[in-house]
Formats: sequence, structure tokens, C-alpha cells
Amino acid sequence: MRSLINILDLTVEEIDELLAVAEDIIANRSKYSEICHGKKLATLFFEPSTRTRLSFEAAMMELGGNVLGFSEAQSSSASKGETVADTTRVVSCYADIIAMRHPKEGAPLVASMYSSVPVINAGDGGHNHPTQTLTDLLTIKRKKGKLSDFTIGFCGDLKFGRTVHSLIQALSRYTGIKIVLISPDELKLPSYIKNDVLKKNNIEYVQTDSLEKVLPDLDVLYMTRVQKERFLSEEEYIRLRDSYILTKAKLKNAKEDLSILHPLPRVNEISTDVDEDSRACYFEQALNGKFVRMAPILKLLEITVD
Ligand code: CP
Repeated sequence: MRSLINILDLTVEEIDELLAVAEDIIANRSKYSEICHGKKLATLFFEPSTRTRLSFEAAMMELGGNVLGFSEAQSSSASKGETVADTTRVVSCYADIIAMRHPKEGAPLVASMYSSVPVINAGDGGHNHPTQTLTDLLTIKRKKGKLSDFTIGFCGDLKFGRTVHSLIQALSRYTGIKIVLISPDELKLPSYIKNDVLKKNNIEYVQTDSLEKVLPDLDVLYMTRVQKERFLSEEEYIRLRDSYILTKAKLKNAKEDLSILHPLPRVNEISTDVDEDSRACYFEQALNGKFVRMAPILKLLEITVD
């Protein structure tokens, strides 16, 4: 693997291997503390981020490496009209590995074609977010002890939510996964994912607009934010943004061992009174994101630890 653009770039075995490395990092932090000494990670973020950019940077620092980069297109020469291809060609002279976020689907793939160093897709438009998927898988594995034989509900913006698209693609390759798609009509999962991923892999799935109806059946609930930045109409966003609000009261009918995930940031879709519930995993999930991002950095830099 030269770059990580789509979660499907990884085989199930490679995903399991990356998750095992992340778990070893969590258990043996000091073993990894200087392993990237002298290496540089460039974070090229053409779109806002808190978790992904800072966890990538913290991950590289905890591995003993250094970081450089920019956090908005306006502070880079993209604002003068430089292409992604030229930016990447130049930055790959300065860094050993690149993490890129871009509002345009496919931009990190283009970058990987012009880069002389590995590129990691840190989120491209409404398309894919493979390292968030590794984060989600690690969180589910640590909570459930497995990545097979459970029912997961995806709730909210399933149309634009790239983390949903990536996670469904990844889970479709594990066994015994049942998927419940909870969204308003306007924010349903795109047909290409239903046809090319769910139907093609014979994944059992149902669609509903009622969270309350299906909540008691779920082992994992993956809440998502309505993606304001992808809407063409502000009015439409305002109409749909509060379609689902998970509250402590609604959780009365949920399983005792439900795991509630959210890639964050949240807006209104999870009430803060859920945060203290033992089933809320989303802040732990954000922490896992730092550890799990160390694993593809090491793999792509071809650095191994005994
Ligand atoms: N989950 C996620 O991608 O968060 P950021 O947009 O803050 O990076």
C-alpha cells in the first residue's frame, strides 16, 4: 500500500493488522515514542477540522516525528490558484508523508498520483474518510470485543456523511453485520452504496425514518451531524438539521450494552445529558482516533517495531 485514499484500499487482514498495531500502541506507549524520529508529516487541510488534523499531528509527535502544514486553503497558495497536483508535488519535497482533507471528492486521489511520498485521505467531500473508519472500527472492537455479528444503526445525514459511507464499506466485509439506516427521505444513503456495497455483499439492511422504533434492536448506534456545508439551500438545511435528537429519556428503551458512536463534531443531534451515560462512546472514540492514526503512518512509512 503506497497511499490510503479509500478504506477499500485495505484488505480485511490489513485493517485487522492496523487495529492490532493501534491496540499495541495503547498498551505500550513508550515502545513507539521515538520510532518516527527525523520523519515529517505534512497536514494539508483545505477544509476545517479539529479532530482529524490535530489527532494526526499529535499521533506524529507521539511517534517522535515532526509536523508541518496548513489548516485552511486561504493560508496556502491554493488561494492564488495553485492546483492540488502542484501543491502535492511541492510538499512531497518537504515531508515524508501527507495527510490531506479537501472539500472536493477525489482530490486526495489526485494528490497521490502526483506525490512522491504516501498520501492519506483525511476526508474528501461527501465521499470517504478512511482513518475515521479505522477509528470507528477500533472503538467498536474495544467495546464489543469483535467486528462481526452485531446490528448497527446509522442515524442522520446518510447522504452527505462520508464517515457513514466509509464505515458501511468496511463493515460489509465482516460477517453477520445487520445495518439499520435511519434518516429522513431527503438524506437517505446514496443508491450507489446500497447497490454496490450492501446488495452486492448480501448485507441485511432496513431503512426507516424512526429512531425510536428501531433503537431497542441496536448494538451500536452511529449518530451523525447534518452536513450543513454540503447543502445548496440554507432553508433546506434548517428544515432537516434537527431531524433526530438523541436524549437520555429516549435511551430508556435501548439495550444496556448499546455503544453510541458519533464521529463528531456534534451540533444538536446528541443532547449533552447523554454524555454521562455509560453507553456514550464518542469522546473515547475521538481519543482512539489519535492512536489508530499512528498505525497507517507507520505502515506507509514502512516502519516496524519488534
Ligand atoms: N470526525 C472528524 O472528521 O472531525 P473533524 O472534522 O473535526 O476532523
